[in-house]
Amino acid sequence: MTVHFIGAGPGAPDLLTLRGRDLIAASPVCLYAGSLVPAAILDHCPPGARIVNTASMALDDIIAAIAAAHDAGQDVARLHSGDLSVWSAMGEQLRRLRALDIPFTVTPGVPAFAAAAAALEAELTLPTIGQSLVLTRTPGRASSMPEKETLTRFAATGATLAIHLSVHNLATVVADLTPDYGADCPVAVVWRASWPDQRIVRATLSTVEDAVAGSMERTALILVGRVLDSADFAESSLYAAGYDRRFRPQSADSPFIGRTE
Ligand SMILES: C[S@@+](CC[C@H](N)C(=O)[O-])C[C@H]1O[C@@H](n2cnc3c(N)ncnc32)[C@H](O)[C@@H]1O
Repeated sequence: MTVHFIGAGPGAPDLLTLRGRDLIAASPVCLYAGSLVPAAILDHCPPGARIVNTASMALDDIIAAIAAAHDAGQDVARLHSGDLSVWSAMGEQLRRLRALDIPFTVTPGVPAFAAAAAALEAELTLPTIGQSLVLTRTPGRASSMPEKETLTRFAATGATLAIHLSVHNLATVVADLTPDYGADCPVAVVWRASWPDQRIVRATLSTVEDAVAGSMERTALILVGRVLDSADFAESSLYAAGYDRRFRPQSADSPFIGRTE
């Protein structure tokens, strides 16, 4: 018996990996985080599967459900939205499973920031403009932030920011970022990226609050950075015609001639 943690992707049911789909199809028990995992993904469960929405369950109850499946020798598909490496609560579940000696696997998924960037048709690391992306959030009722992980500290780097779980804190985001990024810095807010009701607002730090005013939907990502509207960036050296590299040696005496790795 194995518990398969599976990143269910950002919303569109076809943004699930083939491995994730096959593991769901092979597991007689499915526990899914119902607040963000699309119902259509549950269609991959085998006939007769026990399907449980864990949105209203406490950690103890979730682990008890997994332990019961373990006792019955039944594999479990454990679905969380997006990818499992960020804000999935997988860490605390794995710690419990390790203590109980219950085996598990982890299958990644498409994270929300990638779906939002795709919706914006944007590369978030443009040469000479921005080469770092910070995945972060602002403090919430249930989650404080480590002391040094403040938006103002990240702002000092000028990196592109993908701010999760924070659209209701937009005023704070704007106040914290404006001194370093400038009032004209581009901002994009993407609600429910890849869902049928996806919505995008493009603005600047000075206009974004008015632009999103009145939107109650919280499943949104705030992206901030000059990469969002830069047309004037350098082309990458990697694909430059004369760039000497392992896959495209430029002369007979290139150090890359004859190299296999
Ligand atoms: C609990 S976190 C889950 C993150 C997820 N594990 C991931 O890989 O993106 C939920 C937050 O992720 C963001 N999010 C999740 N799905 C989204 C989507 N489809 N569009 C925009 N933001 C999304 C929002 O900021 C939301 O408040």
